[in-house]
Amino acid sequence: MVVGPGDDAGIFRYGNTLLVETVDVITPIVDDPYTFGAICTANSVSDVYAMGGTPLTALAILGFPSCDFGAPVIKKLLKGCIDKLEEAGACLIGGHSIEDSEFKFGLAVTGVVDKKGVLTVAGASPGDVLILTKPLGTGILTSAAKRGKVQKGVLNKVIASMLQLNKTASKVAVRSGARAATDVTGFGLLGHGLNIAKSSKTDLVIFYDKIPVMDGVKKFASLGMVPKGAERNLEFCNKDITYLKNLAREEILILSDPQTSGGLLIALPPKGLKVFARTAKREQMPYWIIGEAVKGKGKIIIK
Ligand code: CO
Ligand code: CO
Repeated sequence: MVVGPGDDAGIFRYGNTLLVETVDVITPIVDDPYTFGAICTANSVSDVYAMGGTPLTALAILGFPSCDFGAPVIKKLLKGCIDKLEEAGACLIGGHSIEDSEFKFGLAVTGVVDKKGVLTVAGASPGDVLILTKPLGTGILTSAAKRGKVQKGVLNKVIASMLQLNKTASKVAVRSGARAATDVTGFGLLGHGLNIAKSSKTDLVIFYDKIPVMDGVKKFASLGMVPKGAERNLEFCNKDITYLKNLAREEILILSDPQTSGGLLIALPPKGLKVFARTAKREQMPYWIIGEAVKGKGKIIIK
């Protein structure tokens, strides 16, 4: 075992090959089965990208109430999954389904990673620049959408973001010499940021005004329309956060909003910035520099 539990994926050495293995299962966040299958797949392979790896194969895990959903729904779901896997360069080689009271779908993904390009949550060093590759807000917006509060155009942008693979972000990070990354998912930016901070034994300084958020997120948050998961996440990590900026609770909750298929949070040595910027531009990949790692013991400081 090269990397064990606690990181985005495990890494196991078999001969000269480093295998990356991960599993992720979620409940529906959009109505359309094809789109849900594709988002779920982008979300599942993301943990391989967060390690700097390349996904190769996947096994589907499906839980469904058979009286509510028929074969056509499952077919569309799997089509969404297979198409997204193909985009990732991976293939579905099997799976398992089980009768369940609530719909669930996910993948166990296996990939490989180059020894020199491994990204872990423990790899950040003081001085590293923190880069985020997708704006925040999928939790707030998809839960507002379930209540019919989100305009079609706004919702389509959220879906496009969740469908976006972290393939390019991972490649750009590895090429520019990053040693640390994680994907921002269920624990929000603060939760996943703290995982990097604690595992790397550094503090992270994050500039609130530099954090990208999706359209409509600030509005819904200010109306108190925030998923329970954001509250739970904040409760869990608040003791490790220092606020040097005056922020309302609703503003802070955006940072703990649980993300589905969120972007990568990358810690990059400053000497890699030029290559990062150049490669990101060539790949037309958006990114935001949101802070830096500093000497410390595993806390986040919001400025
Ligand atoms: Co992850
Ligand atoms: Co995960």
